[in-house]
Order: sequence, then structure tokens, then C-alpha cells
Amino acid sequence: MRLLLAFFLLPAFAHGAPGTGTKMEGEGYFPDAHGAALELGGYFQFLRRSTATAEEVELGRELFFDPRLSRNGKMSCATCHKPELNWTDGLARARGKDAQELTRNTPSLLTAHDGRFFFWDGRAATLEEAALTAIQNPKEMNQDLEGLVAKLKKIRGYRERFALLDKNAPLTAGRAAKAISEFVLAIPRSEDSDFDKFIKTGAGLSPQAKRGWLVFSGPGNCRTCHFSSNHFHNVGLKERTPPDLGRYAIDPKQDNWKAFKTPSLRNIARTAPYMHDGSLATLRDVIEFYVRGGDEHRYEDANMHALKLSAADKDDLEVFLNSFTSTVGTVAPPRLPPDE
Ligand code: HEC
Ligand code: HEC
Repeated sequence: MRLLLAFFLLPAFAHGAPGTGTKMEGEGYFPDAHGAALELGGYFQFLRRSTATAEEVELGRELFFDPRLSRNGKMSCATCHKPELNWTDGLARARGKDAQELTRNTPSLLTAHDGRFFFWDGRAATLEEAALTAIQNPKEMNQDLEGLVAKLKKIRGYRERFALLDKNAPLTAGRAAKAISEFVLAIPRSEDSDFDKFIKTGAGLSPQAKRGWLVFSGPGNCRTCHFSSNHFHNVGLKERTPPDLGRYAIDPKQDNWKAFKTPSLRNIARTAPYMHDGSLATLRDVIEFYVRGGDEHRYEDANMHALKLSAADKDDLEVFLNSFTSTVGTVAPPRLPPDE
């Protein structure tokens, strides 16, 4: 019942400031656990799952793994979002077409069901748009959509699969993107981390992780941004060449200068390296970065400042960040429909 309450009340906090934390009875160690859960915007409020048919998800799986979706036939979504590497690539910055280094880190798709908008600068409103952007990006799959549709239509297996879903609808890039998105939403993962258990039942966190939660919501000031929204902030990462202006390139307001999306922290221990530029190798490096208040202070977010955390606080915080790790299922590459 409480769980349902948390799910239904959350959207009310989607844009506003978190409430003061409703106290609930019987929480023992940490009295406002459930009150806090109601504030955990980013953690629950955007969760989506695929409601598509098994056939559509399967079509999406094939398209996701099929390098023929790229112009030179060498790159699929799975080239960068690798299932065996938690749907990212383990690299600081992605490698695009002809192995060129791109400017941003590949986000894990384990959290793609958990966002209000997509990409580090939030420029895609839907998963479909994100998929079509990757396909067309000249530095990635470099495939125009007309060419994509022509290629897919030549492959009998795809013609049949699209017709099976709707025999009257033409095969379009939009339908391909929809199937890919349904597959991404269907990636087998659970919300069974220690932290999930804790906010549902009040139990499940070790004493050290609980202390870390107190650092996270108290002197660490992490909850101010994480768990309250998906909003854009400039956390003060070192400038790179060429500079990446982040959200400012989409919406040129001073607040958006080098601001990037606050990512979900689900499964964060699985998806190193960190930040939009992959410049921080470990969770400990991320913690040290926040403790020194970031590295570059021009237009840095007002919530970024040096923190007074003891060595034990940092250890506790790191253990707490590990409590976001949940069960993830595997997905094998499918047998692709042959070229005819
Ligand atoms: C060359 C590597 C590469 C390929 C190929 C690629 N991606 Fe990505 N993907 C990235 C990078 C890098 C980003 C972050 C880009 C940005 O923020 O501007 C990203 C971001 C995303 C996001 C946004 C995730 C989030 O949480 O904001 C989604 C969804 C996504 N990709 C899906 C796909 C799909 C579907 C395909 C295949 C059609 C694909 N990607 C192909 C590297 C790649
Ligand atoms: C001012 C808002 C803000 C505060 C305060 C903040 N974060 Fe972040 N966090 C962000 C944003 C925005 C990003 C992405 C930044 C980027 O890549 O440019 C991020 C990125 C991260 C990442 C890497 C995510 C990934 O997928 O690469 C971790 C881990 C993280 N923060 C943990 C913390 C912890 C722990 C604290 C408290 C010590 C904290 N954050 C405080 C906004 C904030």
C-alpha cells in the first residue's frame, strides 16, 4: 500500500521543490525513510516499461543488433550499447564511425526507462527520437532515413515482421524506431536493489549504507539535484577541447552554460567511467570531485561548493552508491534475417 502511494504521489513532485518529508510510523533506524521516498523524483517518477507485444520487442531486438542499420553496415546500437557491459561501452568517450573518438560518454541503456528526456543535453524527448538521432548522426551510424527504409524493405525477414505487426501500415523509420524503443524498455532489469528494498520496506540497507544515505541527503548535498529532477546543472567539470556547451547549445540561457542532464543513479556502480565526458574513472573519483566543489567555477551551479566530509563519510557514501545496484538479466544477440 505504501509502495503504491509512493508511485502515485511522485508525479506531483516532478517539477517542484521536494516536500519536507512526511514522517511515518515504525521506520526504526531512519524515521523519514518513506517521507524521503516521496521526494525521490529521479528514482521512480519516470519509470516506464514496454507494453508492446513480444513480436514487436523481438523485432526491436533484431534491429538493435543489426549493423545494416548503419550506412557502411558496420555499426549497430549494440556496438556502443553493449549488453555484456551493462549497455554501455566501458569507454570514457564513445568511438564513432571509423573509430573516431566522440565527445561524450555512452550512457547505459539500463536507465533509459527512467528518464524524462534523453541524451546528456536532453535534446531528445523520446526514445524513438534518440534512436533516429543515433542512426542519422554522421559520426555514428550515418544512415539517412530514406536509405534506411529502402534497405529494410529489401530484407524479406523484416518485410514479414513489420507486416505481422500491422499488415496495412507501410514500413517506416518511425515504426523501426518504435520497435527499437520497445526493446530498450524491455531490457530485463529489476527494481530490487538494496535501496529499492529500503524505500519500500524500511529495511535492506547495511548500517554503513544507511550512514551513506545520511551523507547523501545531508552534508553531501547530493539529493538536492539527484532524486529531485532530471534537470540540467553545470557541476564544474574541467574544460575540454573543443568545449562542450551542453544544454546551452540547445537553449542558450546562462543557466544552461555547460549544464548537463542529472542522470539517474540506478546501477551506477556498473557504468564507469562517469560524467558526460567520462572524465572520472571511479565512484571514488566522483565523490572526491564533489568534495572539492568541482574543478571549473565559471557559471557553476549554486549548489556546488566544497564539502566537509571525513574519510569515513566518503567511504559510507561510496557504499551507499553501491546500494543502487539491482539484478540485470542478459540478452543474447539474435539471429538476424538474411540479406534477401
Ligand atoms: C557510436 C556509438 C553509439 C551508437 C552506435 C549508438 N549510441 Fe546511443 N549513445 C551514444 C552516446 C555517446 C550517447 C550520448 C550522446 C549525447 O548525449 O549527445 C548515446 C545516447 C543514447 C541514448 C540516451 C540515453 C540517456 O539516458 O539519455 C539512447 C536512448 C540511445 N543512445 C540509444 C541508442 C540506439 C537505440 C542506438 C541504435 C539505433 C544507439 N543509441 C546507437 C553512443 C552510441
Ligand atoms: C548541482 C547539482 C548536483 C549535485 C549537488 C550533485 N550532482 Fe551528481 N550529477 C549532477 C549532474 C548534472 C551530473 C552530470 C554532470 C555532467 O556529466 O556534466 C551528475 C553526475 C553524477 C554522477 C555520474 C553519473 C554518470 O552516469 O556518469 C554521479 C555518480 C553523481 N553525480 C553522484 C553525486 C553525488 C554522490 C553527489 C553528492 C556528493 C552529487 N552527485 C551531487 C548533478 C549534481
